[in-house]
Formats: sequence, C-alpha cells, structure tokens
Amino acid sequence: MVAKKKKSFDKYIYYENSVQSPEHHAEWFGRIFHEVTDRTAHSWREDFCGTAAMSVEWVKLHPKNTAIGIDLDPEPLEYHTRNHLPKLKPEVRKRIQLLNKNVLDVHQPKVDLITACNFSYCIFKERALLIRYLKGVCRSLKKGGIAILDLAGGPGMIAPMRERKTLRSKETGKFKYVWHQRSFDPITHNAQYSIHFQLSDGEWKKDAFTYDWRLWTIPEVRECMKEAGFKNTCVYWETSHKGEGTGEYIRTESGDNAFAWVAYIVGQI
Ligand SMILES: C[S@@+](CC[C@H](N)C(=O)[O-])C[C@H]1O[C@@H](n2cnc3c(N)ncnc32)[C@H](O)[C@@H]1O
Repeated sequence: MVAKKKKSFDKYIYYENSVQSPEHHAEWFGRIFHEVTDRTAHSWREDFCGTAAMSVEWVKLHPKNTAIGIDLDPEPLEYHTRNHLPKLKPEVRKRIQLLNKNVLDVHQPKVDLITACNFSYCIFKERALLIRYLKGVCRSLKKGGIAILDLAGGPGMIAPMRERKTLRSKETGKFKYVWHQRSFDPITHNAQYSIHFQLSDGEWKKDAFTYDWRLWTIPEVRECMKEAGFKNTCVYWETSHKGEGTGEYIRTESGDNAFAWVAYIVGQI
C-alpha cells in the first residue's frame, strides 16, 4: 500500500485563518477614510503587507480601487502570488502591485490611504527611526490622505501568558492557535511574542511567527506622527472591552482603562 503523502506545512494559511479579518478591515478602513476626510479613498498602500490579504479585499470592493503591498520578506509575497492572485479575475488582479522592499525606501506613487497593521511598525524601536518611517508615509500620501496604524496595549498585552484558541478552516481542518507573550521589559518597552500552531494530526509548529517589538504607547505614536508632519491625528477606540469586546470603534480622546485593547491611530496630512 502506498503511504498517504503528508501535506507540507504552509504557515501563512494558518496565520490567515487565525489572525486576520481582511474583508472586514478593507471595508472598515475605507469607511474611516470617508469619516475623517469626507472623501472616498481609491488608492491604498498596505505597508508590512505579509500575504497582502487586505489588498486583495480592497481591490475587490470597487473597480477604481488599487493596492500596493510592501514587504521585505519575499516568502509571504510568494504565498500571495500562489494562493490569492489565481482566485482573482484578471481585471481585479492587475490593480494590485506587490513590492519586495523596505517600507522606509518607498515614497512613490502617492496614495489616498496607507495602513500599517498588526503592530508591524513596532519593529522600529527608536523614536528617530519611527519618525523617519512616518515622514516617508507623509511623503507618500496624496493631499488630505490618511495613515492608519493599529496598536495594542494594556496589562493583558504585557503579562507573560499564552492565549489558546481552537480554530478550523477548509484548508487546514481543526487546529490550535497559541499567542505566546514571552517577555516584556518595562524600561525599554521591548516585548517578545510568538505564534505556535498545533496541526490537526497533533504535530506542534512552535514559533511559526516570532515578533520582537517596542510596544509604543498611543501618545508616543501621535507625537511622532505630529513631528513627522501629520496635521491631525485621532484615535479609534473600541466601545467596550468587556468579554469579547464589541468590535465597534468610535473616535474619542479618552478611553476606558481596558485590560487589553487594540486601537487604531489615524494621521491626516
Ligand atoms: C506582523 S507581520 C504583519 C503582516 C500583515 N500586515 C498582517 O496584518 O497580518 C509583519 C510583516 O512586516 C514585514 N516587515 C518587517 N520589516 C519590514 C520593513 N522594514 N519593510 C517592509 N516589510 C517589513 C515582515 O516581513 C512581515 O511580513
């Protein structure tokens, strides 16, 4: 009898099925743009795009929408080319461009909206470097354009812990996702995190993704945005953090002292 060949592990399938809600975010970021600028965004740059899942959803939303995804690592970009592009009609596909580059080096073409999600800009641990990145973002925005940066915080984001979820998808079957908060240094605000997966056959894939970040605070990021040249900044804060949270966000200048939170910081030029 011929033994059944084991499917090779593709960590990006697991990542997309545990961490991201690209459809929701593409639509919602478009609405934030409208709320803040009173205009409609069509051109989006997804910085630190990984597999550029949000770019895919953005170009599907409107025939005028375009997306540029930027990532330093060719591996998630190749995943995008293999798994996302073939599912798109040629007319839709041609409105996405991927750049295997450093976000610090790209300033053209100018776009309406730039996002940096999943706290990716926290790899810039020095203020001067974060400001250099944000200055580049300003240069890359059309007049009146906006940038949206997400950020997480609260005691629940720095306590050493493992958050476990059992998930399921068509491609992977049932699997376990573990968000592991490895360490936090209150003096430097450096924090290390990992994502582990346990596959449906029980095999563990430890440290499938690892992160070494400076956990910035909201006022620090807003101050850096101002210094980089953004005219205004505002914050979208979740309306409640009890239980699972509401998933509903409002613009506010004061937040509840949540145990763990994810907020969206918006800068307008
Ligand atoms: C936390 S992942 C985020 C992926 C995706 N944006 C998401 O929301 O899930 C961070 C990504 O940023 C990329 N990256 C790190 N430094 C970068 C840089 N300087 N320029 C471009 N991409 C970078 C990494 O290769 C990785 O794919």
